[in-house]
Amino acid sequence: MRRKFVAGNWKMNTTFQSAQALAREVASAVAASNPAVDVAVCPPAPFLWSVKQILAGSPVLLGGQNAYFEKSGAFTGETSLDMLLDVGCEWVILGHSERRQFFGDTDAIINKKVAAAIAQKLGIMFCVGEVLEDRQANRTEAVLTTQLEGGLAGFTSAQLSKLVIAYEPVWAIGTGVTASPEQAESAHAFIRDWMASRFDAKLAAELRIQYGGSVKPENAKEILSKPNVDGALVGGASLKSDQFMGIVNAAAELSR
Ligand code: PGA
Repeated sequence: MRRKFVAGNWKMNTTFQSAQALAREVASAVAASNPAVDVAVCPPAPFLWSVKQILAGSPVLLGGQNAYFEKSGAFTGETSLDMLLDVGCEWVILGHSERRQFFGDTDAIINKKVAAAIAQKLGIMFCVGEVLEDRQANRTEAVLTTQLEGGLAGFTSAQLSKLVIAYEPVWAIGTGVTASPEQAESAHAFIRDWMASRFDAKLAAELRIQYGGSVKPENAKEILSKPNVDGALVGGASLKSDQFMGIVNAAAELSR
């Protein structure tokens, strides 16, 4: 069975103090309930190191929200994958729709980032998802195909052993509108089938596909109980430890 994976994407939220408090709450709640799922938090880059200190000895994993593909050099404002590794990250989110929408991350750029993360042996949460217009025009699968083909071009299945795909319909992110469990399941099944035909059946069967987009404790169980939904990438609800833990616990209950 695929182990469920719940990750909190804090985005550009929290302060130095509140990030530490949130990390402390999540670490102690996870230690207390010892859920049979993987749990990660992805704080803003300046807080990664201090959060790592708080997570020391806890099973909660640390992820960066983005990274640049070059190793080092004159790239003002960017964070390299080496830097993420250096401060203790096990994971990195790549291709998030906010990166695509506001910061010009194209499929080709994301492909380079994925290649660099593979080279560094970091786990990758690779985000794909359609905007509302595409869904309404029945183009969801075409968009997913383009994003998957572009982002994963040139790799072998052996290189993708640490890949997780996050299906995040853009119209469901931060809007309070969640994809229905059926919509999520159908997109996830499509992604898994695509991975099986593009790579191989084993990789596709083992691949964890997270759903992201307004996941809350109230809707988590219904979405996470779908056969192809292997976890959640959580934005807004990851900023409150009780809400985040509600989602982690929903995943854990389904994993018993
Ligand atoms: P949300 O964000 O849970 O606030 O909708 C999800 C995401 O962007 O990963």
